[in-house]
Amino acid sequence: MEQTDVVKPESLEDLIKALQTIFESDCINVEEVQNVMESYESKPQEWAQYAKFDQYRYTRNLVDKGNGKFNLIILCWGEGHGSSIHDHTDSHCFMKLLQGQLKETLFDWPQGESQGNMVQKSQRILQENKVAYINDSIGLHRVENVSHTECAVSLHLYSPPFQTCQTFDQRTGHRNTVKMTFWSKYGERSPFETTISQENN
Ligand SMILES: [Fe+2]
Repeated sequence: MEQTDVVKPESLEDLIKALQTIFESDCINVEEVQNVMESYESKPQEWAQYAKFDQYRYTRNLVDKGNGKFNLIILCWGEGHGSSIHDHTDSHCFMKLLQGQLKETLFDWPQGESQGNMVQKSQRILQENKVAYINDSIGLHRVENVSHTECAVSLHLYSPPFQTCQTFDQRTGHRNTVKMTFWSKYGERSPFETTISQENN
């Protein structure tokens, strides 16, 4: 098989165009997506318009709908903000660090009816510009900005797009379905009512 050459996107706008082209195909090469996202060098002036923080929890800010094939979202993590343990609704999830660092903890799916502590598989620190990938067959994860002095900003691509996911209680494995909301869309703050429902991903 011939390897597609990855052209380095010179800007976030370039990256979005490259992703839209890749996702015209119904067959996605995970490594290709990872490579093109990783080759974009984060420049804050290109994404600052989407990076809207909240004092109390991390925010999800819609950047592009990928012609219906994916959602591209910027997540803004204040000091100490973190997600629940969650799944990805049978979608691909790519996560690129635009600024700062995030800790990713991987978990196995809770086994059958057995209740109890969820099994932690691994943990890593994601560095600036690096791209992580997860899907439901790899497992579940929790993402956290553990820094008490630095915020973090990450760029997430979900394909196909999804509106709900499941969150898991680490101690019991009990799950909840949660609706995902956008704090802002295309740089505009969403109306207050639409952001009340909580969580995640
Ligand atoms: Fe996630």
